[in-house]
Amino acid sequence: MKARPVQIAPSILSADFAALGRDIAAAERGGADLIHVDVMDGHFVPNITLGPPVVRAIRRVATRPLDVHLMIEDPDRYIEEFVTAGASMVSVHVEVVRHLHRTVSLIRKLGARAGVVMNPATPAGSIEAIAPDVDFVLVMSVNPGFSGQTFIPHSLEKLRRVRSVLDSAGSSALIEIDGGIDQSNVSEVVAAGANILVAGQAIFGSGDPEAATRALRASANQLVSG
Ligand code: DX5
Ligand code: ZN
Repeated sequence: MKARPVQIAPSILSADFAALGRDIAAAERGGADLIHVDVMDGHFVPNITLGPPVVRAIRRVATRPLDVHLMIEDPDRYIEEFVTAGASMVSVHVEVVRHLHRTVSLIRKLGARAGVVMNPATPAGSIEAIAPDVDFVLVMSVNPGFSGQTFIPHSLEKLRRVRSVLDSAGSSALIEIDGGIDQSNVSEVVAAGANILVAGQAIFGSGDPEAATRALRASANQLVSG
């Protein structure tokens, strides 16, 4: 079976918020597959970022699907607004959602792809019951809240475990990894099962987001095709 190409999802959290259109265009020229949008509410995580109006503005300029990562206390309240604003993928944290199946089916009913996110300390087994119903699982490889943090090495084991939970459930859901991804760990995370790589600092902190996206994509896919 031919392996699926690895997708790169630049996280605009590290971009210049006064020039989002310019930075997104650069990442897209470099081959970005998705645009990762981090929504933080100052409660679930100790940082505040952006809401539906900004997603709507980004939707007008971006040509790639928007992958909206909700780091908020009560995602159910806002999911419809984010999908209407232009989110193609919406992920919610398993640590805050009370009725995960209800939330995941709401995202799908609205026409977006549904993902569940796990913090580093949340065990891989926590997605077992939802595995047959999700489109993707997002594994956090840092504690969420900020760009530019260091990759937690145990995340490699977590990726392998999540893949095995999904496989046992007969799920072909993709695995996304988020936090501290750069050229130094790209091969390891792909080998451990990641299909979508989020990168903030490694792309927008590099001074040349176009080249950085292209380089990360090339390294990620070397392993898949080589
Ligand atoms: C962290 C966010 C990430 C962050 C990644 O809470 O979910 O998407 O922007 O940034 P880097 O790649 O710099 O760790
Ligand atoms: Zn994120």
